[in-house]
Amino acid sequence: MEISELVASKVLDVPDFPKPGVLFKDLMPLFADGTAFAAAVDAIIAEQGAGSFDVVAGIEARGFVVAAAVAYATGKGVVPIRKAGKLPRKTVTASYALEYGEAVIEVHADAFMAGERVLVVDDVLATGGTAAATLDLVERAGGRVSGFSVLLELAFLAGREKLAPRPVHALLTV
Ligand code: PRP
Repeated sequence: MEISELVASKVLDVPDFPKPGVLFKDLMPLFADGTAFAAAVDAIIAEQGAGSFDVVAGIEARGFVVAAAVAYATGKGVVPIRKAGKLPRKTVTASYALEYGEAVIEVHADAFMAGERVLVVDDVLATGGTAAATLDLVERAGGRVSGFSVLLELAFLAGREKLAPRPVHALLTV
């Protein structure tokens, strides 16, 4: 089975979550299936190339699951990109617009060595607001984004356009 078909078979559509009118894409069934999850992690590594990055950054919270697995499988470390107020030491911060209001994400200021190649991963790319803020954050913290990978991309929200020219890989685009 193609990896896109495998991911598609493990996504549940949840209507009206987290609010009315939103069709939530739930990837928990993919995480819960050991064979499918391993195939997804392996596919991300194959698409990006294990030699193309030095460390993996995961976006809170579901991105942590993917990032830790990619990091372990490639012998790299993992850096959490967190929502505001969670990290104990000096941080670099980025804010971005949500439909209503603003979100803030952070990383420790000393998380990356200068020029370190950072693969950023998350579960879903939707509007791209979170990803664009993360890529900016990683670079302001001294890292160099080598690529961005997600399990699922919602193409109609055009998030990819916010991330150009960086390489963006999605195992499944719908
Ligand atoms: C979801 C998803 C991405 C982001 C994508 O995270 O995991 O991080 O939204 O949306 P965007 O492309 O429109 O920015 P969420 O904020 O739901 O956080 P969670 O994983 O902690 O539930």
